[in-house]
This record gives sequence, C-alpha cells and structure tokens, in this order.
Amino acid sequence: MTEHFDFLVLGSGAAGLSYALEVGDHGAVAIVTKKDAFESNTRYAQGGIAAVVQDSDSLEQHVLDTIEAGAGLCDPEVVRIIVSEGPESISSLQSFGAEFTERSDGKLHLGREGGHRANRIVHAADTTGNEILRSLLERVREHPNIRVFENHFAMELITEHHIGQHVTRLRPDIHCFGAYVFDERVNRVVTFLAKVTLLATGGAGVVYLHTTNPDVATGDGIAMAYRAKARLANMEFVQFHPTALFHEDADSFLISEAVRGEGGRLLNLDGHRFMPDYNDRAELAPRDIVARAIDDQLKSRGETHVLLDITHKSTDFLESHFPNIYRTCLSFGYDMATDPIPVVPAAHYMCGGVQTDVDGQTSIMNLLAGGEVGCTGLHGANRLASNSLLEAVVIAHRAARRAVVQASTVDNIPNVPDWDDSGTENPLEWVLISHNRDELRRVMWDYVGIVRSVLRLERAARRTRLLYEETEDFYKKSKVSADLFELRNLIAVAFLIIRSAQMRRESRGLHYIIDYPESKQDENRLTLI
Ligand code: FAD
Ligand code: SIN
Repeated sequence: MTEHFDFLVLGSGAAGLSYALEVGDHGAVAIVTKKDAFESNTRYAQGGIAAVVQDSDSLEQHVLDTIEAGAGLCDPEVVRIIVSEGPESISSLQSFGAEFTERSDGKLHLGREGGHRANRIVHAADTTGNEILRSLLERVREHPNIRVFENHFAMELITEHHIGQHVTRLRPDIHCFGAYVFDERVNRVVTFLAKVTLLATGGAGVVYLHTTNPDVATGDGIAMAYRAKARLANMEFVQFHPTALFHEDADSFLISEAVRGEGGRLLNLDGHRFMPDYNDRAELAPRDIVARAIDDQLKSRGETHVLLDITHKSTDFLESHFPNIYRTCLSFGYDMATDPIPVVPAAHYMCGGVQTDVDGQTSIMNLLAGGEVGCTGLHGANRLASNSLLEAVVIAHRAARRAVVQASTVDNIPNVPDWDDSGTENPLEWVLISHNRDELRRVMWDYVGIVRSVLRLERAARRTRLLYEETEDFYKKSKVSADLFELRNLIAVAFLIIRSAQMRRESRGLHYIIDYPESKQDENRLTLI
C-alpha cells in the first residue's frame, strides 16, 4: 500500500509539530509517529526554553553563554541566528496557544539554569514541554491539511537504493522520496511517498541503561539517516543530566536544573557542599562539569548517590514553582521542603546527530532534519540548558520555509516497490531482542558513560559488534517488528557514539577520556561520519 503527500514528517515532538503547522498551509502533510502523538522527549521537558525576552538580558550574553558551554565546537554564526530568533519563537508558540508562567505584573517569569548568566528560561511551571505539545497538537488536529498517523513506526528512508540504484557514501546527489513505515495496528508496511521529508524523531537516551528519556527515544532517525548514507556529526557528545531522582522505581525521573537555579545545593552523604570545590560557578556551572563532579564524588567515595537540598524554600514556594517535581518526589517518600532529594546523573540529550545547516538541510536532497535528531552546530561539545527546545522550534520554522520552496521544484517521484519481506517468518526466539537490548544498554552505561577510557571504548566496540552480528542474522530471517527495528537502531547509535569517541583523542565538553585528559588545539574539529 502506498500513501502520497507533499510533506512527510517523521515524529510528533516540538520540531515535527511546529514544522507541520507551517508547511500545512502549503500542501498535504502526513505526521508519522510511533506511539500516541503525545509521547516524546518534548512531553517531559521541565525547565523551559531559553530566550532573551527581558531588557536587562542581551542576545550577546546568550550567544556567549552558549559558546562557552559548547567548549570550542559551536558554530558561532549558527548560534547567533538561533539565539536571535528565540524571542520570535516564544511569540509563535504563544500564538499557537501555549501559556507560559507569568509574574504578578503580567510579564513572563524567567527561570535560571546552569551555564546561563541571566534569568532567561521561559517556562510553564515545571511542565513546559507538556504545555507546548498540548497547544501544538490541538492546532495540528484541527488543521484540514494535516493527518496524524499514530502507532506507525518509520523503518527506512526511501532513496535511490530502493529503486535499484547503487548508492555509496561518496555519491553527492542522494534523494529522499519518503519512508517505509510499519503500521503496528495491522502489522503492515506502508510506503509513504513525499516531495520533502522531515526527520524529527528526537534523541537516543535509551541507548544507556539509565536515562531521563521515555522509551520512544531509541535514535531511530539517526540510524535511518546513517543507513541512508547521510552525514552525521559529533555523536560522541552525549549529555548526562546531573540530577535524576535516585530510586529503584523512579525510572530516572528528572529533577530540573531550575531547582538549582532557585538555590538548590548539591551535598555528598556527609552533608558537604562539594560543587564549589570543582568550579567557581558551583551548582550553576555548565552541565558537563556538574555531572563529572558528581561522578567523581560517587567513584571516590564509593557512594550510590548525592543529595540535592532545597529545604531553604517553603512548601508553598516549591508546590507552586515545581508542582510536578514536588508531587513526584512526595510519591517516592521525599518532601522537598524538608528532605534533601537523592539524585544521580542519567543520559539525557544527544548533542550530535544528522548534520544540517541552519535551515535543517541534511546531506541528502529533500531530506530535512530538525530538533534533537539534528546537529546544526548550536550545541558544540555540550548543550546549554534549555537551548534544545529553542533549537527545535527555530529550525522547524526555518526548515518549513526551505521545504515549501523545495517541494515546488519536485515534479515527480519515482515508482517505489513495496517493502519486500519474502523469506522471513515470525521467529520463536524473541528473548534475543530483549536480552540484546538490555546488554547493549548496560555496555554503554558501563563503558561509554560520563568518563571514558581507550580500554573501555575498545571493549564496548567488541561487544557491540557481536550484538550487531547476532541481531542482523536474526533480522534477515524475521518478519518486521518495531522492537527488532529499535534494537537495530540502538546498536547503530551505540556504534556511532563509540566510533566517534574513538576518533576524538582529547577531552572536550561532554567527552571526557582519562587517556587524553586535556583539550587539544589540533582536535578542535567536528567528528564527521
Ligand atoms: P521529541 O520531542 O523526542 O519527538 C520525537 C518524536 O519522534 C516522538 O513523537 C517519537 O515518538 C517519534 N519517533 C521516534 N522514532 C520514530 C519512528 N521510528 N517512527 C515514528 N516516530 C518516531 N530541553 C529544553 O530545551 N528544555 C527543557 O526544559 C528540557 N527538559 C527536558 C526534560 C526531559 C525529562 C527530557 C527527556 C528532555 C528535556 N529537554 C529539554 C530536551 C528536549 O525536550 C528535547 O531535546 C526536545 O523536546 C526534542 O524535541 P524533538 O521534536 O526533536 O523530539
Ligand atoms: C531541566 O529542566 O533541567 C532540563 C533542561 C534541559 O534539558 O535543557
């Protein structure tokens, strides 16, 4: 079965939805999303969106803070463009109906997070992502040109390879014609053809055992783009959030950096406030520094967690500023107003991804990418807090303008054969999938985490290769399933992170390797695959 659209959008987070609303005024749009349309990293975003909306702040300072956090690898021109379009993005979200927290004088309330030298985080209490999604999805659902396909899993991008041509990584003119998509409700592969495709499939936190990301964040877009031979950049820069709730049933629930922005202090189990020993910005140092300091405390002291103490604030303050975090901590037995919260770092954000320009253009024609799946050059070696929702919305807007022009130049799309799964059957050994997924996530956590070494990376590479061989063997014989595709994608993402980490023979930003503890001038470059 084949579906035809002008614009195909893979993913229904902040990037996919805001792009769809813009291109929807210029043609027929399909949004393909693998679970219900709400499920995404965007849904769980807490702190907010960084934007200069107050006279006492300046674009220049936001640019400088972003570049400082990025440890020499940001593209300054890209930073300048995205930061200067921040205020407009906030207005555009408000025009779609998003309601952000205001002060008593009616102006936006601005929070503070690590690495920012001003209060510039626009937010909706501590559930900013949920509010953005709610407003965007309402508009999407009432738009006459947009159809949302839920429980549809994008498997492969369609390129010349699928119409019988030989495609190598050196070919400069690969085109994207759409995607093969698995309709999970009826177990059928549908061919979605489109003039322009946007990858907006989000991040890949699930490749690590402990992550703040929901289960959908399996790096599918990165893996699909890699298989389609797109160029990827900076995959070694995985951001670990310093403070996820430490509790065996809490699933690494995030405790927003905004809690530290309100004066929350990090203590070790002896009650010592340790961050000033590591950096003069203490708890509000950029995230890589705070996560590494916690890792150092845990390893040197042999402890399982540290404490985040905001007990100097009243119950009323905490309940009104952090209602979701307050409620969730209470459900696990911690009253933030009286108890320090046990926290540990967890994998949070993928700074690298499919390389694009500042209009979302990838190295493949008619394939754009936006949001966490992409790598524009904004984040460099370490993302500044709350710059990712900003990037998702700005790039979606710019990509939409590019897509409308591109679509007008596409006359015809070739005939693409249906997905061929002849010779495959429903296998009996499904346990291989769950076992290999668990094993991969543990390997990545133990060997490719906050602190790396040449030896650990070699081990991770060996184990990942074995998992790859077993899984590919299984895949060749098996009928399509989303679980199996996710496992293949996770393995591809793990390979890309490990390979990129091995290519960088220095420590910089989020990539810290004990064999090369310093940054080096001659390693100040992107890692391209
Ligand atoms: P997502 O919102 O992740 O959306 C991806 C979409 O793609 C989902 O709908 C998913 O189901 C779909 N998808 C994935 N694979 C497939 C497939 N194969 N087929 C079909 N559909 C697919 N950033 C900030 O700037 N500020 C914050 O305060 C903040 N807080 C955060 C808190 C948490 C707990 C987390 C996890 C992240 C936070 N981030 C924050 C990061 C930010 O939320 C994300 O980077 C951003 O929302 C990504 O948006 P996106 O549209 O690119 O992807
Ligand atoms: C947070 O609220 O701490 C998350 C912010 C972010 O990831 O940008």
